[in-house]
Amino acid sequence: MDGLEIDGGKPLQGDIIISGAKNAALPLLCLGLISDAPLILENVPELADTISMEGLLRHLGVDVTREGEIVTMRGGARRYDAPYDLVRKMRASVLVLGPLLARYGEARVSLPGGCAIGTRPVDLHVRAMQGLGAVVELADGYIQARAPGGLSGGRVVFPMVSVGATENALMAAALAKGPSELVNVAREPEIIDLANCLNAMGARITGHGTGTISVEGVDELHGATHAVISDRIEAGTFAIAAAMTGGDLTLQRTRARTLDALLMVLRETGATVTETDDTIRVVANGRPVAADITTDPFPGFPTDLQAQFMAMMCIADGSSRISETIFENRFMHVPELLRMGADIQVDGGIAMVRGREFLTPAPVMATDLRASVSLVLAALTIEGESQISRIYHLDRGYSRLEEKLGNCGAQLRRIKAS
Ligand code: UD1
Repeated sequence: MDGLEIDGGKPLQGDIIISGAKNAALPLLCLGLISDAPLILENVPELADTISMEGLLRHLGVDVTREGEIVTMRGGARRYDAPYDLVRKMRASVLVLGPLLARYGEARVSLPGGCAIGTRPVDLHVRAMQGLGAVVELADGYIQARAPGGLSGGRVVFPMVSVGATENALMAAALAKGPSELVNVAREPEIIDLANCLNAMGARITGHGTGTISVEGVDELHGATHAVISDRIEAGTFAIAAAMTGGDLTLQRTRARTLDALLMVLRETGATVTETDDTIRVVANGRPVAADITTDPFPGFPTDLQAQFMAMMCIADGSSRISETIFENRFMHVPELLRMGADIQVDGGIAMVRGREFLTPAPVMATDLRASVSLVLAALTIEGESQISRIYHLDRGYSRLEEKLGNCGAQLRRIKAS
């Protein structure tokens, strides 16, 4: 498996264009399943995860073509089984469940794999489909769902906020018979993007971006052209990189409003953050000062930036308390950061980080997507050469990472597996 060699200790300076959001693109691609008419998605990042979703859609019979960052889908689904081999690579594959049920009244979807950051059950997805009239069984590692007469509108109350289950419910309810009310839903920008695209296809959705979404089911959806929103997690990762390397980065094609929680904390750590409509500039002012965070659903601090922020706190002045409330096993970067000389103590969902003046080079191993990039950020602060192995996770979520960082002064190179 490929690795990265990073010779750090240099401030990152320059401009970075932020790509389309992986987590918005994945559910948007699933919309290719529910309409025969062409759906054209622009700004779809070319990542292992989006390419793997395109493969799954092709298996399901959708005619998918990609030209650069434009993906065109035609024909809708022609079969309803998503097998283990295709689903195991990526947990987001479960997002085909709602669209398949909406189109076919039937779906057989393998239980997903993906990042090993906790047990990550699918009970909320199942519950949502049941609330819309499906009969669901879990058997032989598969979710088997049927709604022979089609889905019917209903009231689905989520006991906890789930991004994926909200997306599945939204896609299913769009084509269900009658009105639906989805309560205690996720408010992430990716949900708003999905609802906007569905509405452009003729769906009747209101309330997206709030805790309750109302959907008036329609008989069919037509084609549309939709541009995927920019990736707030990629932008957040580079914002942290600027702050922790003593750098000065301007992030283009991004929206500061989707990153309020992070930008507020970065200011607390001493960085100067300036925003325009579509740029964020982060300028470091010396060693960062320690700050505390608690991860929360949007608009709270994103769990997908927790590892990167922890890497920054490892070299901050003072102690930081990092509380992870979304996933129960999302501290897999900790043992690797410890190898680089960090001082971190974990107790359940809380990590106490005592900042060190600097970290030291060590061979480390990437574990999940955001953990991997946190090791890259840590290595960028270290004078001398760090080696990160098993970086395939990075390719799942960061488009042209080496090029983007390299253009801003980072020295890093990919070591191809022999
Ligand atoms: C999405 C994002 C992921 C991000 C996460 C939280 C995508 C492709 N992935 O993942 O990057 O880290 O949101 O912001 O958009 N849960 C259940 N039962 C379920 C579903 C979820 O208990 O049926 C739990 C999870 O274990 C977790 C919490 O709900 O503790 C939130 O997970 P969820 O919002 O569903 O995350 P994903 O949609 O998988």
